[in-house]
Amino acid sequence: MACVDGRIVSVGPTAEVRTAWQATVELDVSGKVVCPGFVDPHTHVVWAGDRAAEFEQRVRGATYMEIMAAGGGIMSTVRATRAASLDQLIIETRPRLARMLAHGSTTVEAKTGYGLTTADELKMLAVIAALDASHPITLVPTFLGAHAIPTEYKDDPDGYVALIVEEMLPAVKSQASQSKAQFCDVFCEEGAFSLAQTRRILEAARALGFGLKVHADEFKPLGGTALAVELGAVSADHLVCTPAREIELLGQSDTVAVALPPTPFGLAHHDYTPAQAILDAGGILALATDCNPGTAWCESVPFVIALACRYLRLTPAQALVAATLNAAHAVGLGNKVGSLTVGRAADVLVLDLPDYRHLGYRFGANPVETVVKGGRIVIRRNIVIR
Ligand code: NIG
Ligand code: FE
Repeated sequence: MACVDGRIVSVGPTAEVRTAWQATVELDVSGKVVCPGFVDPHTHVVWAGDRAAEFEQRVRGATYMEIMAAGGGIMSTVRATRAASLDQLIIETRPRLARMLAHGSTTVEAKTGYGLTTADELKMLAVIAALDASHPITLVPTFLGAHAIPTEYKDDPDGYVALIVEEMLPAVKSQASQSKAQFCDVFCEEGAFSLAQTRRILEAARALGFGLKVHADEFKPLGGTALAVELGAVSADHLVCTPAREIELLGQSDTVAVALPPTPFGLAHHDYTPAQAILDAGGILALATDCNPGTAWCESVPFVIALACRYLRLTPAQALVAATLNAAHAVGLGNKVGSLTVGRAADVLVLDLPDYRHLGYRFGANPVETVVKGGRIVIRRNIVIR
């Protein structure tokens, strides 16, 4: 493969590529796996603090929803994130991005949703923009003001929905293009946003030109997947308890199904996304980490692939496509990244593995040896450069 100015210009047998292109830097990758940089299309990577104490409570038997109903959960991270300055949030998030890059993620979607006031949501978008500009990973910003009903609106949830529709969405929309969210997402769930509230927010977002995403069917099926399909959402995410009828709808649509196996794993639940049913219905399946401080502090797509091969019964090939090309489609970048084809960005990984099936087969250690982002080597371990 040859890359020039950050793009792939040739792919083929070594001798042919060498004849056509004079290399200034050449990587010898004999006997290793070369694959596209991973695209992680669903993360909540920007936050302050941690929830190790809640993890301990869950290990002792409390459930995620019980902790949330008692004022912990998402709201506990919201309090920490509101209290943190822009710089503090950048300082806390940057090492997570460094670990994501070291594990091969070259494009990462990043949601707001721990601010839940107009000012704090805009602060989160500014953090995402600052990190995108100063870190090799490409960040795709998503506005998730509808992540939880904040405590101050506990008795007036529709008042919070009105704030999102009337104040937050227009404010996000009018940001300078660099800090503007591309997508609007809603956590459609019992204890979060009802189907009617989700519809109201997504219709308003669509009218303003946002692409749409939905957290659907994570714990209870409220109809979020059918709504995502109806509104032409780019993705419907989680999909753990999606009814068969909605899987059919998904299969007939271009809405990407994003499975997040670290979330049930992180919660020690036994139900995972019915990936084979989604594929059998004709659906487009992507994988993501869901990296967040509550359910799934996971920065490793190779680990996601290992989980997906076991609990979603994906073959290593299906999992690899789901973590690259299909994931790129889930963030609207399907013709820019996610595949090693001429014209796409030179976001390339070298894996210290003899065969791509070892991705999925092995787990717990990092197989990524080299990361090339936009034609530039940004991570390199044990590689001979000539
Ligand atoms: O995708 N479902 C909602 N949001 C996250 C959890 C966020 C948190 O607990 O802080 C999720 O699982
Ligand atoms: Fe999520």
